[in-house]
Amino acid sequence: MAHRWTNKLTKADVTPEAIWLNRRQIIAGLTAAGMAGALGGRAGAAGDTLEPNSFDDITSYNNYYEFGTGKNDPAANAGALDTSDWSIEIDGMVDRPGTYTLADLTEGLIEEERIYRFRCVEAWSMIVPWNGFELADLLAKAGVQEAARYVAFETVVQPENMPGVRRKVIPFPYVEGLRIDEAMHPLTMMATGIYGKPMPNQNGAPIRLVVPWKYGFKSIKSTVRISLVADEPPTTWNNLNAREYGFYSNVNPQVSHPRWSQASERVIGGGLFAKRQETLMFNGYEEEVAALYDGMDLTKNY
Ligand code: MTE
Repeated sequence: MAHRWTNKLTKADVTPEAIWLNRRQIIAGLTAAGMAGALGGRAGAAGDTLEPNSFDDITSYNNYYEFGTGKNDPAANAGALDTSDWSIEIDGMVDRPGTYTLADLTEGLIEEERIYRFRCVEAWSMIVPWNGFELADLLAKAGVQEAARYVAFETVVQPENMPGVRRKVIPFPYVEGLRIDEAMHPLTMMATGIYGKPMPNQNGAPIRLVVPWKYGFKSIKSTVRISLVADEPPTTWNNLNAREYGFYSNVNPQVSHPRWSQASERVIGGGLFAKRQETLMFNGYEEEVAALYDGMDLTKNY
């Protein structure tokens, strides 16, 4: 199974060769459906493939506050996002800081499809077939230094194109962060598309983070800056309300949000009377990621 190798990652492992080779062997040894099952299936249930939500569900029910706070606002307004000549500034504790175009970042890498569960902190969920790259592989281009402990991310700000920014619905730029071992984990990806198509603007074109075992707000959209840093970086929802939104924000059915339970979730596209489904620990990726949090009190580090 594809799970053993994840436990070997430490913060110092950008893309250790042994793991790199192992991953290639794993991929070579699985059919496309088997791979989707291994990466997206319920932890421990090999071969349980996930049925993705429709393209329409995924692109019409969004959170992207730069374009407004309503679920339909991103689809209605994000057409104005200017994604031309996109580049990402990679700075901080890296050997090769600088401005990287998307072509620079993805050169020599093979785009993968990953079918992941996606669980919003608001207790709804979908299944999304992302296309993209492991974040670790992109960061390797800049050469992560040993001293880096966290990764900070920032979304573009285009006031002229973003009504939510003009109305200051929350402070912008939207910022997020991961611990270095979370960032380097093989499940963590930078997605550039869904359903084999370029990323729709409302989903965070042209490139956005996807961390499938964390609440959706960690998966920051339209990324323009990635900084390798020593200290835990500030994050948008934690800044707004630290009691309700922690830095880690791992999906955890046992730790309620102060205003609602996280034990179950509403499946988008399931229809008005669809039953809620139980939320899985780490959103179903427990076997892959639980070791990252060994010894941590998850009720304190929520
Ligand atoms: N990134 C930015 N820049 N702005 C946002 O408002 N919303 C977050 C996250 N990334 C958000 C963001 C939240 S709350 C969720 S649930 C997901 O994006 C939604 O991603 P989706 O619209 O692709 O489903």
